[in-house]
Amino acid sequence: MRKQSTSAALRANDARDKVEAYLYNQEQLGLLRFITCGSVDDGKSTLIGRMLWEAQMIYDDQVASLKNDSRKHGTQGEDIDFALLVDGLAAEREQGITIDVAYRFFATDKRKFIVADTPGHEQYTRNMVTGASTADVAILLIDARYGVQVQTRRHAYLVSLMGIRHVVLAINKMDLVGFDQKTYLDIEATFRDFAQKLGFDSITPIPLSALKGDNMLTRSAQSPWYSGATLMGYLETVDVSKPATHDLVFPIQWVNRPNLDFRGFTGTLTEGSVKVGDTVRVTATGQTAEVERIVTFDGDLEIARAGQAVTLTLNREIDASRGDVFSHATNPLQTTDQFEAAVVWMSDETGLSGRTYDLRLGTQWTPASITSIDYKVNVNTLAHEPHKQLDLNDICVCKLSTSKPLAFDTFANSAALGSFIMVDRFTHATVGAGVIRHSMRRAQNIHRHSHVIARSDRERLNGHKGKVFWFTGLSGSGKSTLANAFEQALHSEGYRTYILDGDNVRHGLNKDLGFTDADRVENIRRVAEVAKLMVDAGLVVITAFISPFRSERDFARSLFEEGQFVEVFVDTPLDVCESRDPKGLYQKARAGQIPNMTGINSTYEIPISADICINTTNADNSLAVDILKSKLTPL
Ligand code: ADX
Repeated sequence: MRKQSTSAALRANDARDKVEAYLYNQEQLGLLRFITCGSVDDGKSTLIGRMLWEAQMIYDDQVASLKNDSRKHGTQGEDIDFALLVDGLAAEREQGITIDVAYRFFATDKRKFIVADTPGHEQYTRNMVTGASTADVAILLIDARYGVQVQTRRHAYLVSLMGIRHVVLAINKMDLVGFDQKTYLDIEATFRDFAQKLGFDSITPIPLSALKGDNMLTRSAQSPWYSGATLMGYLETVDVSKPATHDLVFPIQWVNRPNLDFRGFTGTLTEGSVKVGDTVRVTATGQTAEVERIVTFDGDLEIARAGQAVTLTLNREIDASRGDVFSHATNPLQTTDQFEAAVVWMSDETGLSGRTYDLRLGTQWTPASITSIDYKVNVNTLAHEPHKQLDLNDICVCKLSTSKPLAFDTFANSAALGSFIMVDRFTHATVGAGVIRHSMRRAQNIHRHSHVIARSDRERLNGHKGKVFWFTGLSGSGKSTLANAFEQALHSEGYRTYILDGDNVRHGLNKDLGFTDADRVENIRRVAEVAKLMVDAGLVVITAFISPFRSERDFARSLFEEGQFVEVFVDTPLDVCESRDPKGLYQKARAGQIPNMTGINSTYEIPISADICINTTNADNSLAVDILKSKLTPL
């Protein structure tokens, strides 16, 4: 029996509230999260619509409007077009495609479900990955008439990449092939053959007609040769529990200190359990302490398990803050600052090797850079293709290096400790998502040497502090000229100085680099590292590089202490630089002979927080030099 709405005026929101209340009451039932993959043509929306229908969660007024819509937009004549139940947006209806991830809730008396409905279009890989990241089961939809398609393989790869262990091969539209058993078996065999490499725990093929309802809720008379589960039967009973790898993973969300007498560490256990009296260990420092209390809003607990949000108080003061991770003292977690990962790129802004992003792994945040892009996975053929950058929807295997060690595990061992997102440092947009394949051994084998002679010793000998003046500006803006005038002035006053200049460094250290965005990022990364060494040697370093991207200038600044880094924007307008054209490059660029000349057909991002701005149009270098000198630091 379908549920009756209590009021004729029941609105969508009320319906949603009711659904949620109903789901809440079913809290004791297991929750299954699954994702449906396939395209509109495979009948995906119809399948989901049918599931919602079968789950009897459709209210009468929704049915009424559905009937209306079916007549208006539907493709099924007077019959209800189930696809319209889920293709929520008008624009999507008109285009006949679904965009973005939609989460839908429904329940039967055995279980409750959250289904992530994601589009099948290739350009929406990121949506699929988002939907798959929380799912336990994937339904891969196949049109029985066409069998396993390129798209089926891509979806299978993506769901395996995101750690889904159980796959339903929903072989749909069986009515259109006369419920032919051989067709069904051939599709199953082809898929199993392909999926071998993907290592799923289970693959369950089911012959369906989502439209007619065959094998959805009850076994169909049309497929007497099939004795397996119905789709709903499978979803209601599939066991997706997996043994935890760790007996405790407790990432600290925040340190709770309402008064001097109370200090608690608040977070949600992602794996394992913890009891009062257990000894826990802070992964970063190795410090240990005993759990005194496990506090929750509903009173204290003796034991907390995975999924529970609690506050732990300890028997002694330890040094731990947001982002630290507790384990049991007897089972410490590993840390890494260099690892190999598969990264899915989700941004229109290209991802570049050498650029720094913010990386979030659970509650841990750190700056991180891509140190190399090893290859791109062709998601259709699974072939490895050489690739230098990360474009939207690319999946690349990369090496990453983080600024501080992270508590981690491989994704295969632990979804919580092995997956991360990457965030743009300026826009704060999520640009990528990744899974850790393994830590690099060199991360464990390289240790910093502390010098016996410290920077302060060298600075004392030099009579001044080490410092970097980072000149940025267009080609022809006057960076090198000004840098030389400045260095001369310093030199005559006894300062130890050195100029790092684009044209020179590119003849030696960086002669393997050109002028693509990726190469410029790497150029600046290396120069920043060299400048750091020179400042450490106590020198006043003057760099003269276009350094066109904010991200890399910011990275350079991040290597230095407060006050050690002076950003100098040589703010000479493009038309002036172009009229100077000392190397004839602008002329060539205008003639189409240089494909990526800064300011013409390659970006220059104007500094927003430069320490000094100098326009050299009416050059008076001596004034500029005085301004620069005012930033020097005596001992
Ligand atoms: S950066 O963008 O990576 O910082 P860098 O300062 O090292 O550039 O090198 C810039 C110098 O290389 C320019 O002054 C110019 O002489 C030369 N050059 C050659 N091709 C280009 C180009 N396409 N864009 C900018 N500069 C170029």
